[in-house]
Amino acid sequence: MVAGRTDAPGAATPPSLGGVRACVFDAYGTLFDVASAALSLRGVLGDRSAALAALWREKQLQYTWLRSIERRHADFQAVTRDALDFALQTLQIDTAHAPSLLQAFDALQVYPDAPDVLRRLRGAGFATAILSNGTPPMLAALLRHAGIAGLFDAVLSVEAVGVFKPDAAVYALAPAQLRREAGQILFVSSNGWDAYGASAFGMRVAWCNRQGQAPERLPGAPDVQLRSLADLPGALGLDRV
Ligand code: LAC
Repeated sequence: MVAGRTDAPGAATPPSLGGVRACVFDAYGTLFDVASAALSLRGVLGDRSAALAALWREKQLQYTWLRSIERRHADFQAVTRDALDFALQTLQIDTAHAPSLLQAFDALQVYPDAPDVLRRLRGAGFATAILSNGTPPMLAALLRHAGIAGLFDAVLSVEAVGVFKPDAAVYALAPAQLRREAGQILFVSSNGWDAYGASAFGMRVAWCNRQGQAPERLPGAPDVQLRSLADLPGALGLDRV
């Protein structure tokens, strides 16, 4: 669903982000803590839950990139399940945990600063949306669980184009669905490769670089780096949250 907004954001934005009218967020890792699924089994898995979180995510992303290159798409639900199977076998963790882990992946913790930041942006007149590898049902489940479904004008899934990020066809969904020029859209992602991909496509980009990761050596150049989502209103020239 897309609700067009015509009102211009009220506050003066810094020159690097001037002209931005909409903020489009990556979901996994940016709004939602991907590791929280595996860590929900910390009581059972102990230290292995952190290794599982890392390998599951690493393999999940690899599979999205590889399937995109091969042009053999499977949706993010299937890729997430395949990556989990690989990680469980590699780490010799009982596969009986798979159903509860997949359930937890649809109920990831929202980063605590996200809801307030979204409300602040919308209050200032920015359109807000999600653009994610997730399937529409996966994204709906996350939003429902976090209670933030009402804070987005649009929820855009790669399923509309049948290929994963960073294929340009995915990023093109944002200007097309929001009916904005790419240069009026600020894409916000904590995934460095995703931030660079969106920038190379032509959107403005805020890289939410929580881990202080080194710059990617990829096409693109994020306009700003944030330490957390709480920095976003300030980067857009709004008062502190
Ligand atoms: C997403 C992955 C990249 O939500 O985190 O699209």
